[in-house]
Amino acid sequence: MRFERSHARGTAFVAVAGSLVLLAAACGSGDNGSSSGGSSSTGALDGRGPITFATGKDTSGFLPKQLAAWNAAHPNEKVELKELPEDADAQRQQMVQNAQAKSDAFTVLNMDVVWTSEFAANQWITQIPEDKVPDLGKLIPATVETAKYRDKLYGVPITSDGGLLYYRTDLLTKAGIAAPPKTWDEMLADCQKVATLPEAKGMSCYSGQFEKYEGLTVNFSEAINSAGGDIVDKDGKPNVNTPEAKAGLEELVNGFKTGAIPKAAITYKEEESRRAFQDGKLLFLRNWPYVYSLANKTDGSSKVAGKFAVAPLPGKTGPGVSSLGGHDYAINSFAKNKATAIDFINFMASEARQKANIEATSQAPTWASLYDDPTLQKQFPYLAPLKASILGAKPRPKVVKYGDVTAAIQAAAYDALNGTVAPDKALSDLQTKLQSLITN
Ligand code: GLC
Repeated sequence: MRFERSHARGTAFVAVAGSLVLLAAACGSGDNGSSSGGSSSTGALDGRGPITFATGKDTSGFLPKQLAAWNAAHPNEKVELKELPEDADAQRQQMVQNAQAKSDAFTVLNMDVVWTSEFAANQWITQIPEDKVPDLGKLIPATVETAKYRDKLYGVPITSDGGLLYYRTDLLTKAGIAAPPKTWDEMLADCQKVATLPEAKGMSCYSGQFEKYEGLTVNFSEAINSAGGDIVDKDGKPNVNTPEAKAGLEELVNGFKTGAIPKAAITYKEEESRRAFQDGKLLFLRNWPYVYSLANKTDGSSKVAGKFAVAPLPGKTGPGVSSLGGHDYAINSFAKNKATAIDFINFMASEARQKANIEATSQAPTWASLYDDPTLQKQFPYLAPLKASILGAKPRPKVVKYGDVTAAIQAAAYDALNGTVAPDKALSDLQTKLQSLITN
């Protein structure tokens, strides 16, 4: 491998020629609730019969089994899967187009947690009276918050998500490293040690997701939050033109410059980065919990099964901060059969379905007690770091113009990572742009 010597100076890592270090970061943003749109629509949850379920591509292969369980018990109210693309922005685009056309093609929407304000303010999704969701009090409160707009519920959290640092236990052990890194500098140092092993040939140090899409907003936010900065402050005001934000962004920029992050990572979304880790090309990977189950498959699809573990994301001076991810199921305002829709959502939110889902897919449940189940903890050692990641996570900006906000963040981050715009200019321009978009 080509983790050569480098000298970490200041906040950065230093250069190396082939591949080298970098780290993950943490994220954050405060919550703010800008607004637009008028009163919230409470469509009555009436009508029974067939429904559809629109969701991003199912990378687990397990979703059809969950839907089959519902369909077997509800022959007159069957759900049909409408699979959308893998990337979050492309999913949002299709859902927005359907909503603008007032289409009833999608009944239940599997919504990224960051879309709630926009969809609710535009009355594209139906307000759900809390008493229609019997298990709501059993779900992690931060996940329930993601489904609210102006204190009203518009969805039910079915999966949460917290960033994790996947690392190669075999190589760290062989290099004499006893514990995973807690900071970016430690991660860099670990990469340098591992680089001396013959097994490290051709490997890079680290990757996250750096293609220009929602995942870049996540990785950028995590880098900034893990350096003590914010995207928006506690009052919801944009706050990216700060030394902390600059330090966080520079960690990523320097990672690309030094080769700690491989060049190809500028094209990575979740799946590309997972494949790179599974192919043995990365020592460290920032990704979501779903990777745990797939990277451990022993059917030949993963070269690292049994050779990795997970830890909290690293930060500048200690553990980093994840961006809060996850998905809420919502009901399209223009759909028919909303009584069936809410029953289906409650079925998928149930402890039994969430347990089946984590067992098959390692996706993060929203049902709090599952994290403390001793059998699951034994079976899934990532549950403790995952719970910590989710409880310590920061939400991305909670704003009606989220689509514009994330596009601005993605553009600024992408230009900085590509080296076309200096980090401080990218951040000061982004600050101006965010101030025009977030006006509450
Ligand atoms: C995951 C997260 C989601 C996030 C997306 C970014 O699906 O659950 O919240 O926006 O990744 O790619």
